[in-house]
This record gives sequence, C-alpha cells and structure tokens, in this order.
Amino acid sequence: METKKPVRRSQAWFGKNDRDGFVHRSWIKNQGYPHDELDGRPVIGICNTWSELTPCNGHFRELAEFVKRGVYEAGGFPLEFPVMSLGETQLRPTAMLFRNLASMDVEESIRGNPIDGVVLLMGCDKTTPALLMGAASCNLPTIGLSGGPMLNGKFRGQDIGSGTGVWKMSEMVRAGEMTQEDFTAAESCMHRSKGNCMTMGTASTMASMVEALGMSLPENAAIPAADTRRNRLAQLTGRRIVDMVKDDLTMTKILTRQAFENAIRTNAAIGGSTNAVIHLLAIAGRIGIDLKLGDFDDLGRQVPCLLDLQPSGKFLMEDFFYAGGLPAVLREIQHLLHLEAPTVNGKTIGENIAAAPCWNREVIRPLDQPFMADAGIAVVKGNLAPDGAVIKPSAASAHLLKHRGRAVVFETIEQFHATIDDENLDIDEHCIMVLKNCGPRGYPGMAEVGNMPLPPKVLRKGITDMVRISDARMSGTAYGTVVLHTSPEAAAGGPLALVQNGDMIELDVPARTLRLEVSDEELARRKALWKPLEAPKRGWQKLYVEHVQQAHLGADLDFLVGASGAGIPRDSH
Ligand code: FES
Ligand code: MG
Repeated sequence: METKKPVRRSQAWFGKNDRDGFVHRSWIKNQGYPHDELDGRPVIGICNTWSELTPCNGHFRELAEFVKRGVYEAGGFPLEFPVMSLGETQLRPTAMLFRNLASMDVEESIRGNPIDGVVLLMGCDKTTPALLMGAASCNLPTIGLSGGPMLNGKFRGQDIGSGTGVWKMSEMVRAGEMTQEDFTAAESCMHRSKGNCMTMGTASTMASMVEALGMSLPENAAIPAADTRRNRLAQLTGRRIVDMVKDDLTMTKILTRQAFENAIRTNAAIGGSTNAVIHLLAIAGRIGIDLKLGDFDDLGRQVPCLLDLQPSGKFLMEDFFYAGGLPAVLREIQHLLHLEAPTVNGKTIGENIAAAPCWNREVIRPLDQPFMADAGIAVVKGNLAPDGAVIKPSAASAHLLKHRGRAVVFETIEQFHATIDDENLDIDEHCIMVLKNCGPRGYPGMAEVGNMPLPPKVLRKGITDMVRISDARMSGTAYGTVVLHTSPEAAAGGPLALVQNGDMIELDVPARTLRLEVSDEELARRKALWKPLEAPKRGWQKLYVEHVQQAHLGADLDFLVGASGAGIPRDSH
C-alpha cells in the first residue's frame, strides 16, 4: 500500500507546478540544490543572530553548519537565515530598545517563508528572548540552541568573570586600589574565547531558562562555546527538529504554564538575572500563558540558590558545566518542579534529569547545604512602586535588605554621571540613591544602569554597597542592593518621578514593601507640577515609546502581545 506523505507548509511554496512554483523553486536552486531537495521533506529554518557586532554570537555561522549536518542526517532540508542581532556591549542606547523589533523580524521572517520547523540560534542577552518571542507568535515546531559561554576569564593567576569583574575592578580604580594600566591589561584576559558572558549574567540565565522551559536539548545552558560538545549538541539539535516537524511538536505544546513555573524556580536556584523576569513575562504574553510579576515572588520564595557562581558567588560557567550543568541543579530541586512537563526531545523534564550526575559539590551545592537560602527574586510594592519593583536578594547585602534612608535623587543618568564624583555631593552610605527616567519609555529602552556606581567618598571608607532604586534594569552580571524595574516608571508619571532630595524611603524586602514617606496630599501637589519628557519624533523610537508596556508586564509592545500563528500568507506574484 502506498503511504501518503504529509503535506508540509513549505509545499505551499515548493509543491506547486504553476508559475509560482517555478519561481519559488528556481531561485532556491541558484544555490545548487537538486530538485529532490524540494520534494516535501521538512524545511528547517535556522534563525541566526550571527554578527561581528554581537561578539558573543560571532561563532554562530560555524555552529549553524553543525545544525545543518544534523538536519541533513535526519532527512530534512536546512535553510539558514539572518535576523537582527543585538549585541549587549556595542549597541546603544541599549540592546533592550530593540528586543521587540528583533522579535518582529523573527516572527515575520518565519511566517513569510517556506519553513516547517525552526532552530533558534541564541546567545547574547537579548537575542534569546527576541527569538523566543518572535517564534512563539508563529508557533511552528521550534527548538532552541544557545551559543554557550566563554571559557573562564584568567588574569594574573585569578579567574575573572564577564561584567562582574569589570564592575569590581572599575570601583577599585575609583577607590585608588588598582592602576589604570592593570585595568587595561585585564581587558585581553577577561574575554579570551568565543561564547557569551561566562558569569551567571543574563545570557547564561536565559540559556538556562531555555533549558528549564524544555525548549532545548538537555545541557544546553552550560557547555562552553569552545568545547566541541557544543558542536555535537548543535548537530543533535538539527537531527531532533526534523522529528519535531514530523510529530508536529509546536511551541504551545512545550511552553505551558507548568514550563514557566519550572523556569521561575530554576532562576531562583541558579541565582539568575533579574532580566529573566521581564523576558519570561514577554514570552508568556506571546504564547498566551497568564504569567504575572507576582508569580516570580510566589514561586521563587523559599527556593534556595544552589550555585556558587558570579555575580552572587565565585565560580564561572565553565566550572558549572564540569560540575554537571543545569540538569544537576534541576535534579536537586526536582521536588519543586513539574516533572511531567514535556520538552523538545520528546521526553519529560523529569525523565531528562532523573540520572543527572553532580561532579562538584562546591559549585553546585546540595539542597540541604544551599549556597543561599530563600534566593528567589523578590517583588516589592508600595506607594513608590504601585505595580511593583524587583530586587535580587542573592546579589544584595543582607544588612541592607531592611533599610530606611534619605533620598539622593538623580533626574537623569547624565545628571548622575555629572555629579556622583563631586566631593561636595550631600551623600553618605546610609542614603538611598534614586535614579529616574531610565524605564522603558524614559531611556527609551530601559537601560542597564540601575546598579549605579557609589560615590568615591563612600568607596574610600571601604563600603561597597548602598541601597539604589530606579526604573532601570541592571546587567545580570551586576550585584548590590539594587531595586529595579520600578513600575510605573518615572517617564510614565509614576511616583518615582515625584521623589525629591531629602525624602525618606523605607525598603523592607522581608515584608516586600517599598515606601516613600511623603503624604498623598504632597505627592498630589508634586504630580500637578510634573512635566513629561519630550517624546521621540520619528522612527522606531517613536513607535516604541508610544506602544511599550511597563516593566511589570514584560515591556513588550502592546500590539505584539499574542500570536498570529503560521498560516500561509498570500502569494507574492
Ligand atoms: Fe553578550 Fe554578555 S555581552 S552575553
Ligand atoms: Mg547585560
């Protein structure tokens, strides 16, 4: 009996015998493909964020070749395509301004092309959420592959971590404890291999989220980019997506509410970045899962941090991989996970981690001797943040988690830079630094400037942390008692806009409160005098500012929330 081949989406392009079929096939053939390549086998789009301006993703063309090997082996037809790449360290004013734009590029590139399944090549911070968001709005069978972290930074016999080491050493220079020459010498030592930041910053956090969500093969989070096992994972990923197309294993079947709950708990257990909050909320919004800022506090509460990794601890991603990687952590917290959640390899997450070994208990602590107890991201609320603000307790100073202090206010980041080194600035270590106009609309794009450097006169006393509050984000590699994502933001007329020098503020993380000790009447009087910033007049920034949602909703554009599926668009000729 003849078995009928399933009709693939790509056959709406390649399977026609008319003028349009000629056009779709003939132009593809200019790259040297034989006719039978277009016979209805799964066409796999490899969505590539390679760019020399995104150094963390600079090896992705090589990685894509290994994915192609796997796709061919499994009987698929791979076609690689570029999308906008977002390099955290080069792109101004902040890569976050373009996360939603890149997600639109991804969504439309997938939907508009003859693709049956997608491999997402993700690395540097924003490339991961942008690709997941865009792909989720299409909902084809999709698998994630991260580029992997760099090898440990090595400087004069010591390990130094991406970002974290920069923040530390630059404060040492400002405190007079390190020379400018040594600081410059460290540059070549910190980032010495391909890959993304090797601290538990946003890139490694999001790679861990991809794995915890079930969107990648096991071990995706930690294999270093320079380790050949990363290439092997790429090849296996290529093989697997072909079967996912045959099984119609779409994103909505993986990205359930349970998957997000697993990810949130995992983020607490790894001491992950606060940026994961915004990105997971935005991804959930695309796939139609009801996730709220409060879920991060509810689900992350009482989850211990098991990883002794920078910026919270001392080790780096390479150590994490040798210790067993994310499967070892997930196995340790399995009682907190939905083990029945499906993953892209066709097994449940419980099956994937059941036998995961741990090789180093210094790096991955056992549950009964955690690196830090109760480490989930805390959501604080109060009259200074009616819709919430976040703080990462594992990166904060325990003695500052409950603190009352006098506000020292910076209206803009420019004002902060212009005044922070001034010896006459009226500030001491008990004060609370308040930074405005760095939220989604205010910057625009919500830059990673929330971990403001301390004033030199405080640093000289040997003090390295102060309470800081803003509507900004901070780098996942940063640390300190830093309250972020204050919502609504100052530029949207939130109460943060109304704080004045000398106001008293009380932060109480155990009680989850953030209070400005100013009466409602006085705040109303100040609000009447408040003037909004001048809005951008054209281009992407205008569209962004007019439509971006506040941080507690994930900072997606309002009209991008939700999905349009992967229906086949009208023909082009
Ligand atoms: Fe690209 Fe950190 S700058 S991952
Ligand atoms: Mg960053």
